Amino acid sequence: MVVITAGLPRKPGMSRDDLITTNVKIVRSVSEQVAKFAPASVVIVVSNPLDAMVYTAWKTTGFPTHRILGQAGCLDVARFRCFLAMELGCSVEDIQALLLGGHGDDMVPLPRFTSVHGIPISMLLSEEVVNKCMQRAKVGGGEIVQLMGTSAYYAPASGTIQMVEAIIKDKKRILPCAAYCEDAYGVAKGQKGAGYFVGVPCVIGSNGMEKIIEVDLVGDERKLMDESISHVKDLVGAVRKIFPDLA
Ligand code: 2OP
Repeated sequence: MVVITAGLPRKPGMSRDDLITTNVKIVRSVSEQVAKFAPASVVIVVSNPLDAMVYTAWKTTGFPTHRILGQAGCLDVARFRCFLAMELGCSVEDIQALLLGGHGDDMVPLPRFTSVHGIPISMLLSEEVVNKCMQRAKVGGGEIVQLMGTSAYYAPASGTIQMVEAIIKDKKRILPCAAYCEDAYGVAKGQKGAGYFVGVPCVIGSNGMEKIIEVDLVGDERKLMDESISHVKDLVGAVRKIFPDLA
């Protein structure tokens, strides 16, 4: 297994996307070495802007898509669960939540699939409080950068460890990861080879990404997911434009 964390971190006031040119160069050079020295590895990318860096690692290594994953969802969903637990005064361990989309401020937490020990969140907290927690989770990366003066590292590391453990122990855990999607979630429907890495729930085991779990989205959920997917496409578009060899 290889975990790629190399790249410049964000400074206060920067968005993840501001790092694109510098970090593509770094992740590309690391990925070249991964392909040479660890050609059978499963790769987890953590560098930002996450969705573009996973794409960069995929294009550079030429690895099959199931052996390339991005860590973002484990971190983002942990933030969402944490803020809900703080409101409820209960353990974060008893909160299950689903979060989709890119690792940007337009990520998509889904209250309809969020529960506390099996009890739907809507039965325990008002819509207003849940919305407040969702909003704080979406910009949680920026909040921690402001507080620490640099990017988060404990929480992304913790999210990465969940993924590594699931792969090494072949646990078949269902974790939210940036995974290659074509038809799944309508990312690039019917466009063979033209998919994108987007945050979706996946079964993770010794083969890397073993299966994407798809749920039907309704109303605003669909709209928000489409917006997030379109942001991922724009980011990858920027990579292709600046680095035509990665197109
Ligand atoms: C975060 O959300 C580092 O992007 C990472 O904190």
